[in-house]
Amino acid sequence: MELTEALQGFVPDVLVTLGSGLGALADEVADPLVVPFADVGLPTSTVPGHQGRFVAGTLAGVPVLVQQGRVHLYEGFSGREVATFVRAAAAVGARAFVVTNAAGGITADLSPGDLMVLTDHLNLTATSPLEGPDFVDLTGAYDPELVRAAHAAAEQAGERLAQGVYAGLRGPAYETPAEIAMLRVLGADAVGMSTVHEVVQARALGLRVAGFSLITNVHRPGGTPTHHGEVMDVGATAGPRLAEVLRHLLPALAG
Ligand code: HPA
Repeated sequence: MELTEALQGFVPDVLVTLGSGLGALADEVADPLVVPFADVGLPTSTVPGHQGRFVAGTLAGVPVLVQQGRVHLYEGFSGREVATFVRAAAAVGARAFVVTNAAGGITADLSPGDLMVLTDHLNLTATSPLEGPDFVDLTGAYDPELVRAAHAAAEQAGERLAQGVYAGLRGPAYETPAEIAMLRVLGADAVGMSTVHEVVQARALGLRVAGFSLITNVHRPGGTPTHHGEVMDVGATAGPRLAEVLRHLLPALAG
């Protein structure tokens, strides 16, 4: 079945992709219509904490397609496959994209549990979701107007919101202390294993993009161990806080 058919006439304004541990946001969708990825020919992740379904409905009155679970390069998927969900959402009418992820903090002022709005990214995966001469401009890929709207939304939600540059790496190993030192020099504030391909694809299709990292762990000079368990735990407690920020932000994305 095609996604259009599965949505039974529902047209989303915004695709909201949920990162590790942030799946609970999907529970807040009103009048939910659940579409398992497998039903519409989309790939499903093998990672604990990632489900594989769309939840279509409204959040803060805005028609959204919430993507609960994504696939990653480190599972063996290509950049193009990782971005399939964005193409599918654009094909059914989505015109904006809210991408969320769990990330490790690199900048000293980030702590576990912090929310960070993305101002830019470093695609360090050496691959792309695009094929052929699709020379998309990525200046302002993370819409500066939406960064401002995100700060306003966070203030309304009573949440502190950091901002910074997200480095996307292939993984699945967490970074060595030397890699973290390198990323710091390159200008990264946080590091993760997703997002960059989806954003490149979204821009190539003309969607406006807002991105958020939930800082689940931090990297300090000299090295700090990272465990997937803490990534999931912090996601679970911070999910509702990010949801609250998104509820205030979504009206700025609608239409
Ligand atoms: N590194 C890469 N990906 C991540 C991290 C990290 O420290 N935390 C959550 N996702």
